[in-house]
Amino acid sequence: MEIIRVENYEEMSTRSCEIFVKRLKSIEFPVFGLATGSTPMGLYRCLVKKFQAGEISFKYATTFNLDEYIGLPKDHEQSYHYYMNELFFRHIDILKENAHVPNGMAEDLHAECEQYERLIEESGGIDLQILGIGENGHIAFNEPGSPFNGKTAVVNLSESTLKANARFFKNLYEVPTRAISMGIGTIMKAKEIILLASGGTKAVAMKKIIHGEITEDVPASILQKHKHVTIIADEAALSKV
Ligand code: PGA
Repeated sequence: MEIIRVENYEEMSTRSCEIFVKRLKSIEFPVFGLATGSTPMGLYRCLVKKFQAGEISFKYATTFNLDEYIGLPKDHEQSYHYYMNELFFRHIDILKENAHVPNGMAEDLHAECEQYERLIEESGGIDLQILGIGENGHIAFNEPGSPFNGKTAVVNLSESTLKANARFFKNLYEVPTRAISMGIGTIMKAKEIILLASGGTKAVAMKKIIHGEITEDVPASILQKHKHVTIIADEAALSKV
């Protein structure tokens, strides 16, 4: 695990953007794993800026998002389809058919999960996976207790995640309780992983995943076993490390 300690959110975004751009330019048909949430917004802003400046193109890139809520239509403002379109996809030249987000409205959710997993494999696997981290140490929607070898599946959100995400909804009861999420096993197959963290609310989780025991109770702790992980986190997130 390489740890890049940065001052603040802006620097976290810039540093991750630099690595992303390097991979985008050096891999012929790059495959990226993408995250949502507040954390990677600055990264997407930086990538869009570079695209608009003519420095990069996503024409040959494929992306797979980590997760999507079950039951939110694609045009719902809190769906991850909406988030990705508004913040990233509609501003760049990625081919629509190459930008994948799990379909949380699929009639057969289990078939959707299997197909998603298969699509990732058929693409040749993820070259660079971007991750955020939950206050409880979750990655994607793999909550504490999720199996380390899990594949893309329908998962239940923990109470802690529901509370953390309620800030985006009218109230706690509007937060969907289930999602489709890449599994930890899926994530661990990525050739390279960048985990981003900003702010004091992530400090306990960061301490646990860097120095703690590797346990399914702290999903991101498994990253200690991955051979190419870079953590880019700010002072506040690393204040207990
Ligand atoms: P956040 O969410 O980026 O909004 O903090 C991260 C996560 O829950 O994985």
